[in-house]
Amino acid sequence: MADKPRVVLGVSGGIAAYKACELLRRFTESGHDVRVVPTASALHFVGAATWSALSGNPVSTEVWSDVHEVPHVRIGQHADLVVVAPATADMLAKAAHGLADDLLTNTLLTARCPVVFAPAMHTEMWEHPATRENVATLRRRGAVVIEPAVGRLTGVDTGKGRLPEPGEIFEVCRRVLARGTAEPDLRGRHVVVSAGGTREPLDPVRFLGNRSSGKQGYALARTAAARGARVTLLAANAGLPDPAGVDVVHVGTAVQLREAVLKAAADADAVVMAAAVADFRPAVYATGKIKKKDGHEPDPVALVRNPDILAEISADRARPGQVVVGFAAETDDVLANGRAKLARKGCDLLVVNEVGERKTFGSEQNEAVVLGADGSETPVPYGPKEALADTVWDLVLRRLG
Ligand code: CTP
Repeated sequence: MADKPRVVLGVSGGIAAYKACELLRRFTESGHDVRVVPTASALHFVGAATWSALSGNPVSTEVWSDVHEVPHVRIGQHADLVVVAPATADMLAKAAHGLADDLLTNTLLTARCPVVFAPAMHTEMWEHPATRENVATLRRRGAVVIEPAVGRLTGVDTGKGRLPEPGEIFEVCRRVLARGTAEPDLRGRHVVVSAGGTREPLDPVRFLGNRSSGKQGYALARTAAARGARVTLLAANAGLPDPAGVDVVHVGTAVQLREAVLKAAADADAVVMAAAVADFRPAVYATGKIKKKDGHEPDPVALVRNPDILAEISADRARPGQVVVGFAAETDDVLANGRAKLARKGCDLLVVNEVGERKTFGSEQNEAVVLGADGSETPVPYGPKEALADTVWDLVLRRLG
């Protein structure tokens, strides 16, 4: 790879083209060399001057400019990543069928690097059998096609077909670039990830909670989606934006999380319990706000045990061969405590984090050892949470066979 990773940003003709300006900025500000290749229709939405000024590179839509440089071949050949955002139904069809009638479609045929499509269109177009088949073809050939988001579309309608947020598309691209491949090795798999921390209400305004940020669980969901999995993310109070192409179910308490896990796990190939689940909840929920009474000490809070979701799904697998992964945060005797917890919970893998100092909750980085029920031990050095997530998926894949 060159000093600066070379990214081709293909833009096709949809109203969401303006959001690609933000995606472009994210790439350039994080040290990528970006060549924007819009289609002629895309220029109806955002002009060439904008793309050129923001990227610092020339912009053309067809193969007849700078012919001596053979751009229709060279741009694709030299790219480290091609991302098309927004990808219209027309663009997906052209890419699936190998048409090459402008610079972007030529580039898609000559690129040998990972290719990511971020589709945006009306729900009817996304759901049309022609588009479904084109998406399936592109995925079969190894491209990452990010699921569109659900929400407000052009005009008054809402539904599936919205371009995912630029920050989310950027994260998918960053991971694909870091792995150097878009190989969708989790394609055809359904994985369930729990993230965040449960909150156990005392009354309508107070709860018992914990400091889990949800970032590790979200990184697991994002990386699995980038590797082609169908992902269900069970998010407990994480307050993070929904990752692109992931089905997100929001839950509050441990009991709600248990219900959601059991439902989603029914057809899952793997379940990763990254959420910090409260072990106890208040025995009584006060339906009105608990008031202080002058001259009286507060009543003690009685607690009852919550179900141990990880132990339950490990003991009673929803499917034969389902891989179950747990997380553990430990302060002392990390490995010995981790081994004991792995045996107690009955899961296949346990990601053991040492907590303390810089390894704090909410950080972007993590360091861990992944223990296997087969006695294996995989250290993961201090680094981005996505790197740990990719190691977890590698180990899960090995166990799925
Ligand atoms: N977990 C769970 N249900 C619970 C508690 C925890 O599914 N009621 C899961 C977490 O999602 C995590 C793993 O179990 O994957 C480890 O949780 P932890 O609380 O560290 O384990 P405990 O057995 O409660 O051990 P400790 O005594 O250290 O609290």
